[in-house]
Amino acid sequence: MKILVTGGAGFIGCNFIDYELEKHGEDEIVCLDALTYAGYMGNLNAYIGLPNFRFVKGRIEDAELVDRLFAEEGFDFVANFAAETHVDRSLIDPAGFLTTNVIGTQVLLDAARRYGVSRFHQVGTDEVYGDLPLDRPDLRFVETLALKPSSPYSASKASADLLALAYHRSFGLAVTVSRCSNNYGPCQFPEKLIPLMITRALRDEPLPVYGVGANVRDWLYVRDHCAAIDLIMRKAAVGSVYNIGGDEEHNNLNVVRTILRLLDKPETLISFVTDRPGHDLRYAMDADKLKTELGWRPSVNFEEGMKHTVEWYLANKEWLANVMNADYRQSCERIYGEKKVR
Ligand code: NAD
Ligand code: TYD
Repeated sequence: MKILVTGGAGFIGCNFIDYELEKHGEDEIVCLDALTYAGYMGNLNAYIGLPNFRFVKGRIEDAELVDRLFAEEGFDFVANFAAETHVDRSLIDPAGFLTTNVIGTQVLLDAARRYGVSRFHQVGTDEVYGDLPLDRPDLRFVETLALKPSSPYSASKASADLLALAYHRSFGLAVTVSRCSNNYGPCQFPEKLIPLMITRALRDEPLPVYGVGANVRDWLYVRDHCAAIDLIMRKAAVGSVYNIGGDEEHNNLNVVRTILRLLDKPETLISFVTDRPGHDLRYAMDADKLKTELGWRPSVNFEEGMKHTVEWYLANKEWLANVMNADYRQSCERIYGEKKVR
């Protein structure tokens, strides 16, 4: 099996490549990645030089390059991870989200159609459903809900899901879509909640919690997400959509407190700042379809996953120094500079 993994130099993509090469060592993987601020070549060090791994630097919306790559390689499967992924950035500058997440997906779908791949897997997010109220713990997202995205990020991801499903309906392309809750684990770029708070706490810097920290996310350890995608891509019926979630709902304040406890740092580091505009209140996934139809289960709970994650960041100071460069500091200034301490 030859698999194109787009966005493989990013957080989930590199964990997926690791999972695939370990589980299906006979498969070949080609990684196409633009190496944006979120992509780091060091995430792929372990695979460069393997006979069944190739890295190509390029953008998924570059139709000429994508066509050439499909013609050269003859892919069986495509797993599309490449995306602009940070909600706060999408609130400052939405255009790049549409180019990569919407046009890029369309370019890949066209190539997949032209060259007849046997599976196109679109990696999606729970954020396409919008949000749930905090006072209705009985409600969860199911696959049949209408999409109601709140941010430019989630709107662009909803468009990508819908395009992929439309290519299945209109052209018979063998598409599957997964929608996952918030991931955490090794190699996550320190702009997202968990690695941002770990890296700041390590330096005894203030931890910027939006609003009062009451917003709830459903957390999943990244390798469990990778295992679910692997199953869906290989076993699910074409045209189907699967939710993936950890059944681990925690509010942001408790997540930050967990990090401080694991690092033995004081809660006085917490700083409540101006809320995110349009901030989704609660995400909660119903992943029963994936569990009953394909037998998937998360392998670690939040406490265990967080221990591995904190240990990984403690053991990988060089990785952190490399990704927390001048660009990183500048973008933190753009996002947090305007936020006031409440
Ligand atoms: P990330 O931001 O860490 O990595 C994105 C990768 O895509 C980077 O390597 C980047 O260089 C690459 N990329 C960006 N634009 C590109 C382009 N135009 N062409 C080629 N490569 C490009 O993202 P992530 O957290 O690993 O997320 C991967 C996928 O999973 C995304 O589609 C995201 O929407 C989805 N997802 C993420 C989460 C989460 O919690 N992180 C949850 C559910 C779904
Ligand atoms: P994030 O990791 O950006 O993921 P998403 O918004 O896609 O769920 O944020 C997770 C939650 O943490 C979200 O409710 C916003 C909140 N948050 C903060 O309170 N402070 C921060 O500095 C960041 C980045 C996020």
